[in-house]
Amino acid sequence: MHAIVIDKPGGPEVLTWREVPEPRPGPGDVLIDVAASAVNRADVMQRQGLYGPPPGAPPYPGLECSGVVAEVGSDVEDFKPGDRVSALLAGGGYAERVAVPWQQVMRVPEGVDLVEAAALPEVACTVWSNVFMTARLRKGETLLVHGGASGIGTLAVQLAKAFGSHVVVTAGSAEKIARCVELGADEGINYREEDFAERVRADVILDIVGGRYLPGNVKALKTGGRLVVIGMQGGSKGELDLGALLVKRASVHGTTLRSRPVDEKGVIVRGVVENVWPLVEAGAIRPVIHARVPMSDAAQAHRILESGDHVGKILLVS
Ligand SMILES: NC(=O)c1ccc[n+]([C@@H]2O[C@H](COP(=O)([O-])OP(=O)(O)OC[C@H]3O[C@@H](n4cnc5c(N)ncnc54)[C@H](OP(=O)(O)O)[C@@H]3O)[C@@H](O)[C@H]2O)c1
Repeated sequence: MHAIVIDKPGGPEVLTWREVPEPRPGPGDVLIDVAASAVNRADVMQRQGLYGPPPGAPPYPGLECSGVVAEVGSDVEDFKPGDRVSALLAGGGYAERVAVPWQQVMRVPEGVDLVEAAALPEVACTVWSNVFMTARLRKGETLLVHGGASGIGTLAVQLAKAFGSHVVVTAGSAEKIARCVELGADEGINYREEDFAERVRADVILDIVGGRYLPGNVKALKTGGRLVVIGMQGGSKGELDLGALLVKRASVHGTTLRSRPVDEKGVIVRGVVENVWPLVEAGAIRPVIHARVPMSDAAQAHRILESGDHVGKILLVS
């Protein structure tokens, strides 16, 4: 089969489409014929040599895919060859085939195109696990989503609206804010023109900026608020005002999805299938796709992501 190989860290040009050994499914694995994968910021960091695959994961980038089951291991009961699936991966999505533990495999929601289904696993699992499982966002509460036009942001806006929350986003342009409002956001803040911490008070904040936003995020939390940091685009260190945190009885969480054990990923995946897929099937949530690029040209997909002009996901079509 072919896969995108990274021989040495560097720019998009180091992503090369080459023949590699076929993966073999273990007893608990599902082997998927990949229809599409999608680009995540973590893939750029892997390409740059800053975020290696966890032990046991395929060396190729790609944290999600959709496709058709080619083969299942002897212990797998829930899937069979021919099933249309998507999957949360620890790596290896930029390939023609990938083997993945069955716990990380999901059926494709009814009505979703097989290729477009690749846009959902990583964002759905990240948003469900952080906003709903960790921060326990409730109906009527306010959610602040930093980077509302990102892949993660576009799903967070739709899911939180579907659960009856008031949603505020930050983004870097009026155009991006307009797209977030189309997806259901109630308010948008252009962070280049306005300080979000002066404008909004939120019960839950989903943050991709990290260190640089920590003081502002704590300031923007309401009493009992929950801040979940999932990205460090603004650095890993910042000053935490514990006094403010104590007075507000607020909490700060940090999580990653990729490094979690298979069983934990399985709990998240089941939560997504039970709670998010019905909303996708009802049309309340849709994958937001910015571009489709042939998988062999993953370099071009990375250039689009790094330009920062995109809204939603960039697909890699096999
Ligand atoms: N911890 C986890 O498990 C986990 C899982 C998935 C993703 N993530 C993280 O989540 C983040 C989003 O991932 P993605 O794949 O959706 O990336 P993406 O689509 O590339 O989005 C990143 C976005 O961040 C926005 N941004 C940059 N600086 C900002 C700021 N100061 N305020 C508000 N927005 C800002 C940019 O849009 P503007 O033009 O608006 O600036 C850009 O579109 C990444 O940092 C990724 O590493 C973490």
